[in-house]
Amino acid sequence: MSERIQIVEVAPRDGLQADPADLSTAQKVELIKRLVAAGHTRIEATSFVSPKAVPKMADGDAVMAGVPRLSEVSYSALALNQRGVERAIAAGVDEVCGVVVATEAFSQANQRASVAESVQRWRDISDAARASGIKTAVTVSAVCGCPYEGRVEAQSVLDIVAQLAETRPDELALADTIGAGVPTQVADLFAGAREHAPDTTLRGHFHNTRNTALANIAAAIDTGVRVFDSSLGGVGGCPFAPKATGNVATEDVVYLVHEMGFDTGLDLDALIDTTAWLEAQLGHGVPSLVAKAGGFPQPS
Ligand code: COA
Ligand code: ZN
Repeated sequence: MSERIQIVEVAPRDGLQADPADLSTAQKVELIKRLVAAGHTRIEATSFVSPKAVPKMADGDAVMAGVPRLSEVSYSALALNQRGVERAIAAGVDEVCGVVVATEAFSQANQRASVAESVQRWRDISDAARASGIKTAVTVSAVCGCPYEGRVEAQSVLDIVAQLAETRPDELALADTIGAGVPTQVADLFAGAREHAPDTTLRGHFHNTRNTALANIAAAIDTGVRVFDSSLGGVGGCPFAPKATGNVATEDVVYLVHEMGFDTGLDLDALIDTTAWLEAQLGHGVPSLVAKAGGFPQPS
């Protein structure tokens, strides 16, 4: 039996929220159905944030009402305030995700709150989710660099990790939201996070903005991380981080970790087919390389 690496598919939320295309609710639901058919068991389905801030996620409630409910598939959604977590609970999500940005300027741009206020908001969100028996996951974002403040001190990230670990989340993610990190930095951050949150499962979230995402994932794997976010085709970015193009592509991550000997439960060919379908829906190409090259060549 190979060791498992779990992939959380974020295309329906982190991916689509920043794509120029406006998919209908039916297209989003169809995407999620195809992701499930390709073997995904953890999907970030939508967010419950202000529709003025992120218009493309305004139909989160309707998306959740349309997704296939299977015991092995867990749907998460982003919530950044009390209203968001209430909507998420009402919509029947399995997991509520929060975000605390590592820097003050980006925190204000993203959620109009200071870092300390966001930590407090997360405490409230986490309490509400837990009271409803829903899993909780929290992401510290912009850990490798900030579009507004530049370099980010590792210690400030780790201080936030320590505060968030007190809420005992089911998972804690470190996110290189603007794809600025490199493997040495990522390895140090995850090793530090493990010390500050020893009992918490850690997850990595990487963007490929500067072509470092797969190297960063390999470095995180070396430190023991076994859960990663990725986005089908590499769609995505962040509406509040200028030039934050490209989540790392699911197919590229799956190829990497399968060839490294890990198992993901995902069908690479089905993912590649789904990417072709998604490109047609979006009306433009996507950055994934494995979607273009295919999996490991078969002998002819
Ligand atoms: N769901 C629906 N509507 C919401 C909402 C939610 N969870 N939270 C706030 N709103 C609405 C309010 O009703 C209000 O609408 P109105 O202007 O018609 O009265 C408006 O949004 C502003 O609400 P307010 O409570 O003053 O929030 P804010 O302006 O301080 O913004 C956030 C805080 C967190 C709600 C907002 O910044 C946000 O949703 N950001 C999204 C960030 C995001 O998703 N980033 C991407 C990835 S991390
Ligand atoms: Zn992201």
